[in-house]
Amino acid sequence: MKSVLCSRFFILLPWILIVIIMLDVDPRRPAPPITSRPYFSPHTLGCGGSRVPLRRSSPVRDNLEKRNESRVQSQPQPPLPTIYAITPTYSRPVQKAELTRLANTFRQVAQLHWILVEDRATRSDLVSSFLERAGLPNTHLHVPTPRRYKRPWLPRATEQRNAGLAWLRQRHQHQRAQPGVLFFADDDNTYSLELFQEMRTTRKVSVWPVGLVGGRLYERPLVENGKVVGWYTGWREDRPFAIDMAGFAVSLQVILSNPKAVFKRRGSQPGMQESDFLKQITTVEELEPKANNCTKVLVWHTRTEKVNLANEPKYHLDTVNIEV
Ligand code: UGA
Ligand code: MN
Repeated sequence: MKSVLCSRFFILLPWILIVIIMLDVDPRRPAPPITSRPYFSPHTLGCGGSRVPLRRSSPVRDNLEKRNESRVQSQPQPPLPTIYAITPTYSRPVQKAELTRLANTFRQVAQLHWILVEDRATRSDLVSSFLERAGLPNTHLHVPTPRRYKRPWLPRATEQRNAGLAWLRQRHQHQRAQPGVLFFADDDNTYSLELFQEMRTTRKVSVWPVGLVGGRLYERPLVENGKVVGWYTGWREDRPFAIDMAGFAVSLQVILSNPKAVFKRRGSQPGMQESDFLKQITTVEELEPKANNCTKVLVWHTRTEKVNLANEPKYHLDTVNIEV
């Protein structure tokens, strides 16, 4: 009797083991992501990219994960489109602070090339040495705004954005365009990292909401069935593209295939520059809505308060000359 029981046990043992293993491997469980590789730069992942174990480890699971990892890693990755950010900037007490905030954001974005265009006749020492230490791929340009255009009621940064466009076109004139996306990044706005993840997939021209602009909490393109059909704005709804400079991105290919598209001084008013530019390269029907069909604010049109320098000394200046 004892030997019969014993032999039954040994016959059943392998089956029991097989059932245990089968229960442990759940084929419906999706393959685990390799890393959270979103919009952060590879440096960020490289330095602190530790993966927190979320569940008890088992040898079978570990093997399965290793196989999935090698499968995903062996797939060729398409090149990440370069984001070209054109930033006009001008000398004022808060300039270095603005550029510092901007660089701190850009440094966290993979494959970003910063085109900084100074509103000056020459490059300033402040911006030159700032860029040297910024740790970002960059191009430092300069062009002064003619004095007659330095009026509060006239558009700003027209010449500087055009200089950035000219540089881009010249740089890519001979080679087949690498995938790229252009974005006009004013130096005083606030940009979330998610914004860059959204704009990176721009095929022609993409759009999204902008916070704290136009006398409202936000402005946004109105979207129906995945298409832009109008604009939620409190100012000049008659604009063909009622959108702020921070609310769109353009593919490099579109910039290169429309070589005459520029910002114009003649007849242009503040707030109309975006529309006048976009009219030259696209149509409303073509626009690609981003940020969850334009329902998320990922960029804010913040404006820095003018600093109070009432107590700056005229005489008895500080004994050292400090760059601010
Ligand atoms: C709004 C829009 O968001 C801007 O994109 C647009 O250029 C501007 O209106 C306009 O009226 O043309 P706003 O906050 O009023 O923006 O403008 P600023 O932030 O003062 O200037 C826009 C950019 O141009 C900034 O990057 C700023 O540094 C630069 N800028 C401004 C110059 O390069 N030179 C100037 O004399 C003034
Ligand atoms: Mn601004």
